[in-house]
Amino acid sequence: MSDRIHTLSGYFHEYQKSVTEPENFWARIADSFHWQKRWDKVLDWDFEGPDVKWFVNAKLNITENIFEKNLFTHGDRTAIIWEPNDPNEEGRKISYRELYEEVCQFANVLKSKGINKGDRVIIYMPMIPEAAVAMLACARVGAIHSVVFAGFSASALADRVNDCEAKAILTADGNFRGNKKIAVKAIVDEALEKSSVETVIVCKRTAQDVEMKDGRDHWWHDCIEGVSTENKAEVVDSEDPLFILYTSGSTGKPKGVVHSTGGYMVYTKYSFENVFQYSPGDIYWCTADIGWITGHSYIVYGPLLAGATSVMFEGVPTFPDAGRFWAVVEKYKVNQFYTAPTAIRALQAHGTDPIEPYNLDSLKVLGSVGEPINEEAWRWYYTHIGQSRCPIVDTWWQTETGGIMVSPIAGITPTKPAYATLPLPGVQLCIVDPEGKELTGNSVEGNLCVKFPWPSMIRTTWGDHDRCKQTYFSTYKGMYFTGDGVKRDHDGYYRILGRVDDVINVSGHRLGTAEVENAINEHPLVIESAVVGYPHEVKGQGIYAYVICDMTNRTEENLVNEIKDTVSKIIGPIAKPDKIQVVSGLPKTRSGKIMRRILRKVAEGATDSLGDTSTLLDPEVVKEIIDGRK
Ligand code: PRX
Repeated sequence: MSDRIHTLSGYFHEYQKSVTEPENFWARIADSFHWQKRWDKVLDWDFEGPDVKWFVNAKLNITENIFEKNLFTHGDRTAIIWEPNDPNEEGRKISYRELYEEVCQFANVLKSKGINKGDRVIIYMPMIPEAAVAMLACARVGAIHSVVFAGFSASALADRVNDCEAKAILTADGNFRGNKKIAVKAIVDEALEKSSVETVIVCKRTAQDVEMKDGRDHWWHDCIEGVSTENKAEVVDSEDPLFILYTSGSTGKPKGVVHSTGGYMVYTKYSFENVFQYSPGDIYWCTADIGWITGHSYIVYGPLLAGATSVMFEGVPTFPDAGRFWAVVEKYKVNQFYTAPTAIRALQAHGTDPIEPYNLDSLKVLGSVGEPINEEAWRWYYTHIGQSRCPIVDTWWQTETGGIMVSPIAGITPTKPAYATLPLPGVQLCIVDPEGKELTGNSVEGNLCVKFPWPSMIRTTWGDHDRCKQTYFSTYKGMYFTGDGVKRDHDGYYRILGRVDDVINVSGHRLGTAEVENAINEHPLVIESAVVGYPHEVKGQGIYAYVICDMTNRTEENLVNEIKDTVSKIIGPIAKPDKIQVVSGLPKTRSGKIMRRILRKVAEGATDSLGDTSTLLDPEVVKEIIDGRK
């Protein structure tokens, strides 16, 4: 574990080395992995393209680094502890050797269905161990997986299937979520009315009735029956894509963020071990869903590459009651616990009674991810869950960054509520003003960029490289632009202030306002809409929609409910607006541009500080909007 940071001065020393000699630094970290062929060069890069290559011409398979490399030393160690939705159902503990066999077996199934290197496979599954097996089996055969969060609608799923031209979908019959049973296969069937794939493999989870289409649909358990548990890993290039993950931006449809293999592998393991200070034998639990990047990097790849024991939880924080998280922590003696501020705030609302019955003494480190954590939630988490002794790692990163970028090193970096603190080694941040001028020194605030490549960074957006360039590398020349605002305080600590673009973060789920507007506009009576985020006590941000619609023969209540259903159907329930205000017009400039600033202020309730409204075409509209505020 020579790559482990043990002290604050050690952190500064490593950070310095990663900046002055980045190639030597990452070569040293990468040396501890198993490569079929070593790299010719550590890094080739150009942010203009962008064209970034890490471990150039190296060959590997990421699953060999999880399994073959380690089976002799920890084949019997538990890789995944699976905790089902219902606490009365028995969970599963899967050792590295068992997981290896399941992955190899399923890799053989994929091959027998004609899925090979470079093919795209959609994974639309609940939080069951087979979902991790599915991801790793794809990686084993060199296929590119694209996990779609099982809460997304048929239409959102179809868009993703079509965009990446998937050859297969791996799914389940249904999904248990709290006291609900959700049809999953039926959604796949609906999605496949608008797209097509050759193969659908269905894992039985809820045992609900499903339709199986002859020739296309197969049961998972039938497929693996009698199949060998030995499989030779496909050798891929370091820069071959490992996965595509769709995420929302400020314009258009969600884009497929592409991550490549070598750099992602090196960075996720390195960041996992260091940020959480994971020691062999620890039990680590990240509550995210594998449908998000957090689940990819810090339930599956990072922990498993590090030989960790990773808890995978199928359920929700409030089922059967608001003590569930703490019951699971006690049950497995969890040492590192990683969740989202929205979950913390939701549980905070239940008070401390649900925590009382449980022993949380096993906890050593608490983590936060996905959105800014407000000071009150930070303190509640620290005091009541961490018993005022566990450091909180507030980890800032993104789907595009692949791994944690700014975070305390647990127990080493002094923390400060609501601050993600300092960049990890290899992460060269830069704060710029709106014109792109770098703001140097401390006590500055601006837009957050990264000026040097890091191994797990986005390589392209699937099928549209120009979109990647335009979105991330064109706003500020020669830099990756994160879309976040940031403050660097007098100590040089970073505090993320939230998005500066039209992306909103609802309960840690990332959505584009344009995407929600497009869904609203699908309702036949909607003429125009504008969506903004507003501060929400539990969700961080809520969705506020202003709509102009044809009200003939409709009550407002009916219409509002119909619009919510439309959004649910087109994107998924997570995108349902919290508030919908029917308006007769939107505040527009003379050139026809909607002044979102005003709409945001009204949604926030800050109607006294609307700023300059003199350029509006029709200032009267603002008065109407304020009067009708929800
Ligand atoms: O605005 C930042 C916020 O989440 C965005 C990235 O969302 P996504 O790609 O879905 O990835 C979430 C999980 C890594 C960022 O642009 N964000 C994420 N973590 C934090 C955060 N904002 C503040 N503090 C964080 N720790």
